[in-house]
Amino acid sequence: MASRGKWTSSIGFILAAAGSAIGIGNIWRFPYMTGKYGGAVFLFVYLAAVVLLGMPVMIAEIAMGRATGKNPVGAFRELRPKSQWKLVGYLGVIAGLMILSYYSLISGWTLGYFFKTLAGQLRGATTEATPAVFAAFSANVGLQLLLLGAFIFLTAWIVSRGISGGIEKACKVLMPVLVVIMLVLLGRALTLPGAGKGLEFYLKPDFSKLSPQMVIDAMGQAFFSLSLGMGAMITYGSYLKKDESIPRSTAWVAGLDTVTAVMAGFIIFPALAAYGMSPAGGHPLVFHILPVIFDRMPLGTAFGLLFFLLLGVAALASTISLLEVVAAYCIDELKWNRSKAVWLAGGLSFLLGIPSVLSFAGVPCFRRLPLVGVSFFEMMDFVWGTLALSVGALFISIFAGFVWKKSAAFREIGWGTKGARLGSVWLFSVRYLCPLLIAATLAMLFVG
Ligand code: TRP
Repeated sequence: MASRGKWTSSIGFILAAAGSAIGIGNIWRFPYMTGKYGGAVFLFVYLAAVVLLGMPVMIAEIAMGRATGKNPVGAFRELRPKSQWKLVGYLGVIAGLMILSYYSLISGWTLGYFFKTLAGQLRGATTEATPAVFAAFSANVGLQLLLLGAFIFLTAWIVSRGISGGIEKACKVLMPVLVVIMLVLLGRALTLPGAGKGLEFYLKPDFSKLSPQMVIDAMGQAFFSLSLGMGAMITYGSYLKKDESIPRSTAWVAGLDTVTAVMAGFIIFPALAAYGMSPAGGHPLVFHILPVIFDRMPLGTAFGLLFFLLLGVAALASTISLLEVVAAYCIDELKWNRSKAVWLAGGLSFLLGIPSVLSFAGVPCFRRLPLVGVSFFEMMDFVWGTLALSVGALFISIFAGFVWKKSAAFREIGWGTKGARLGSVWLFSVRYLCPLLIAATLAMLFVG
């Protein structure tokens, strides 16, 4: 296979981009953050960020990718030669490597829980027992390294096979199945006695809980969940055919991603309330509550197995997109062949993931970094998964709004005389709304 292919169909692009977007960010990160920040307020700020910031930036990224047919670094270089803008591309490539390292670890947890379910270790799970089960699981360094390694290996193996071959096929079949399983869980959670309290937590905002840190994390979560801010959508857009509509694809991808995250909340919070668990359980939140849900529903073991397996597949479609950014850069810019690029980047990512493994294993210096007071893993997730993506999105919007010529951008997006109204809304967003809102939110880091 050539090192640069094209998506074979428009649905192929939408499913692969949605595959990148939908992952453990929706089902693990979104619920635990919503729980941590007190529920509905976080949900609303997050939704606002998706619409106001996420969608315009996604249009910009896909258009930049398709216009140039390049990786993030190459795209900036081609649109603005001999400038420092390519640094934004480099930031993205590095962020891809960094996020891949710890994202693969959490993805490995889904495999771990699949096997736990298979071995019957989660049978009879109670709210008292699951936290201890998780603690023992995550403290097992050997097992964690194995899961991390296995996940990165799987990712690298698929990416090494090229674009339409690996990614597209997997997403096409499996994503819809995951959604069906989530619908079943949704029905289960909403009909539990006591579920109403959870719904109230999730939907009734208490605005006194607004805080600068919360707004930063909600914005970061929007970029993280939509796979924005580091050029993943530039890279995926570079494989998109010219006659596909970018705004329409964006609406689909953002819509599917957001529905999945919101749906995860509708499962987790009612269940937490019904079983009397706190929503502020932190990172392991969904791994604490899901086994309890499965254990007390008909065919629970079967659903549990399918759910963890498909969540693993959803995570895989996301890790593929993270690695693809790094690979596309090494292939285009460094002229490496695909397999060298993929295996070297995958190997490096594994090494970078080791300190994250150790932070959960309770190795003191990684569990609580000196000075910052959070674990190495939490530091990675905040610095790369939240800050770097927000900074990336800030620069991408400024670039698309001011540096890239309006006529060229509009032509690429497909806004001639017909889409002019939508075009001016987009231009206003990337020129003023996104830069100002993102910069103001980031600035709160220093005051709040
Ligand atoms: N969006 C994915 C999720 O929600 C994670 C992800 C994949 C990602 N590729 C990305 C995040 C690129 C940022 C950038 O699980």
